[in-house]
Amino acid sequence: MQISPGAMVTVRIIHHSVTGTTSRLAQAVLEGAAGIRGCRAEVLAIDGADIVNGKFENDAMLRSVDTADAVIFGCPTLMGGASAQFKAFADASSDRWAAQRWEGKLCAGFTVGSCASGDQLATLLYFTVLAAQHGMLWVGLNIPGGHDPQGRNRLGAQLGLIAQSTGTTVPTVDLDTASYFGARVAQKAMSLHGRSQA
Ligand SMILES: Cc1cc2nc3c(=O)[nH]c(=O)nc-3n(C[C@H](O)[C@H](O)[C@H](O)COP(=O)(O)O)c2cc1C
Repeated sequence: MQISPGAMVTVRIIHHSVTGTTSRLAQAVLEGAAGIRGCRAEVLAIDGADIVNGKFENDAMLRSVDTADAVIFGCPTLMGGASAQFKAFADASSDRWAAQRWEGKLCAGFTVGSCASGDQLATLLYFTVLAAQHGMLWVGLNIPGGHDPQGRNRLGAQLGLIAQSTGTTVPTVDLDTASYFGARVAQKAMSLHGRSQA
């Protein structure tokens, strides 16, 4: 996958949120990615209205992945897995899968639950399987955390970002981890295209 010299590297954050905590994480991921010079980042939200008679119908969102260099998926962990609305988006990508349209793009993911160990890993694992189906290249979180309850990656996940909400609040440290994660994915996308940050 080549992009012309001087063109911006594009990172798109595709997420679903019911009560807003995943959206807050998405915004923090965006801020991190947008802080990398040469990178253009954008957040897109899956909405209930995108799903008509059980089928995801927002083709513009699918097309936004077609034109991205890296994609970061996010949704809450609900009943031990990805939200149904995110899954509807994923199911609608099957035509792209058949053509391997997203092959070679970078992919990463984040999720949030109200428990410290509320099976959020299952959501990240789902994202990795989805990425593999599309031939995408997975980027994990390179912070050996889990030791400092106030430190980045306090919950110690490295497959992606796991956060823990309290009601509709996300701890600042998780938002900080999200920002770091966005920057990391953007930097990897730059490297993939032979760019160094100016
Ligand atoms: C139906 C339902 C199922 C949930 N299941 C889980 C779960 O399996 N694990 C967990 O840690 N939190 C679970 N939660 C809590 C949500 O993941 C948490 O409130 C999250 O912050 C919501 O994200 P949002 O604000 O982006 O919608 C559940 C919440 C609801 C309403």
